[in-house]
Amino acid sequence: MKTSGGSDAAKRAAGESAADAADDGAVVGLGTGSTAAHAIRELGRRVDAGLDVRGIPTSYQSRELALEVGVPLTTLDAVEEVDLAIDGADQFSGPHLVKGGGAAHAREKIVDAAADRLLVVADPSKAADRLDHPVPVEVLPDARTTAADAVRALGGTPELRTAERKDGPVVTDNGNLVLDCEFDEIPDPASLAADLAAIPGAVEHGLFVGLADEVHVGSESGVDVRTF
Ligand code: 5RP
Repeated sequence: MKTSGGSDAAKRAAGESAADAADDGAVVGLGTGSTAAHAIRELGRRVDAGLDVRGIPTSYQSRELALEVGVPLTTLDAVEEVDLAIDGADQFSGPHLVKGGGAAHAREKIVDAAADRLLVVADPSKAADRLDHPVPVEVLPDARTTAADAVRALGGTPELRTAERKDGPVVTDNGNLVLDCEFDEIPDPASLAADLAAIPGAVEHGLFVGLADEVHVGSESGVDVRTF
C-alpha cells in the first residue's frame, strides 16, 4: 500500500476516530489510502463486536481490505442513502481537498459527494493554509496529450504518472491515465476545479471543493476534529 506523510500512529488515530462515527445500520463510503485503511480496519473490528454497517468501496484496494477485515459491502445503486464517507487526503485547507495520490479520486469523489457527511482522515502533514499540492487529473488514454496541452494553457505543468513496479504509466481502476498537474498555489480552488472539469477527455480531477464536513487530524497525542 502506498504510504505518505506523517506517522502511522497519527494516521491510525485519525482513522479510528472517524470509524467511531459510524452508527448501527450505517452505510459508509470506504476511502482509499493508508489513513483510510485504518478506518476500514477499525470498522472491521467493530463489525466483529456486533456493529451492523455496510461499506461502499472507492477502489480495488479498499474493497480488498474490507473483504479481508469482514466489512460487508454494497454498491451505490443498491442503497437509498450513504450516511457517511471516510476518506484520506493528500492536502486539506479548511473543507477543500486535493486527493488522488492513490489514483482513486474519480470513484472517491462519486462516493464522497453522495454521502450525507464526509469525514476526512489525515495526519498534520496534510494541513495547508492554501492548497498547493499537484492536482491529479484522470484522463481517457486518447486524451493524454490534448488534456496535457489544456492543463498547460491553464498555467499548470502536467506530468504523466508512472508506475513503480510496472514499466510505463499508472493505469487507474477505471482503465485511464493520470496527469499530475503542478499549479503552485491554488488561490481559487472552485475556479480551477471548473476549468479542469471542462477539459475534453478529463474523467475527474482531484480537487474536492468544500466537500469535507469534518477533518480528523490524528497525532501521537490524540485527534483534533475540525468541523465545517
Ligand atoms: C487516494 C487518495 C488518498 O486518500 C490520499 O492519497 C491520501 O492517502 P494516504 O492516507 O495514504 O496519505 O486520495 O486516491
